[in-house]
Amino acid sequence: MKGVILAGGLGTRLFPLTKVTNKHLLPVYDKPMIFYPIQTLINAGIRDIMIVTGGGNAGDFLRLLGNGADFGLAHINYTYQQGEGGIADALKLAEYWAAGERICVVLGDNIIEKNIVRAVEAYRQQKSGARILLKEVPDPERFGVPVLDGDRVVRIEEKPQRPASRYAVTGIYLFDERVFEIARELRPSARGELEITDVNNAYIDRGELAWDVLDGWWTDAGTFESLRRATNLVAETGANKLD
Ligand code: DAU
Repeated sequence: MKGVILAGGLGTRLFPLTKVTNKHLLPVYDKPMIFYPIQTLINAGIRDIMIVTGGGNAGDFLRLLGNGADFGLAHINYTYQQGEGGIADALKLAEYWAAGERICVVLGDNIIEKNIVRAVEAYRQQKSGARILLKEVPDPERFGVPVLDGDRVVRIEEKPQRPASRYAVTGIYLFDERVFEIARELRPSARGELEITDVNNAYIDRGELAWDVLDGWWTDAGTFESLRRATNLVAETGANKLD
């Protein structure tokens, strides 16, 4: 399985912090934000990693991460997203590199307390399709929200005004090779982006979306409030723990 970290976008919700740098290079406590999703993949045993970045400061990722030696990696792959066409648009850039393998996608601003080993193991046993990770949150309206029927996810709604459950769909996704076929069929949403939620709904329509609940705390870090929360959580308890 290969890993893809999506670190494009313009980070406009963090302006002016993101005026002269990429959101994922900002500090979260004692490390640049991008370190956390890289460690999430490595802790799950995924060492073949591509970073999709964009914007005016993409070169800084090379200076910061190089070939991944600080993480004990032999190599890191990079690609560049023009503009801000959405999460699924950024993902499309990884198709040639994924080359038919399954992928674990992590959004570059998603930080976790523990690890995703259990979900990745379960996905290795899963015959085909996709697997997502859910987490109960106080503010589901900020995220993709699953509509549950018993233990089945029947639909995911992106930033619903009236959330159908207390869960957020976290930015950690496991996809088989058909994800790129699905992404090619997408049309831009009302906010003008190719949505990862539409990708997940396509897997639901095929009856091929499984899910787990993520262990430990989870947060994004793309707004002032969530960036502050991420920093506090990392400072108080640490992130990317193995047990
Ligand atoms: O954090 C989880 C949430 O992430 C999910 O619950 C939502 O379903 C999903 O749509 C997404 O919501 P956001 O609106 O918060 O995503 P945001 O635009 O902040 O993008 C998240 C990351 O995706 C960002 O840190 C970098 C990457 N990205 C985003 C865009 C729009 C790209 O690489 N390229 C892009 O064009």
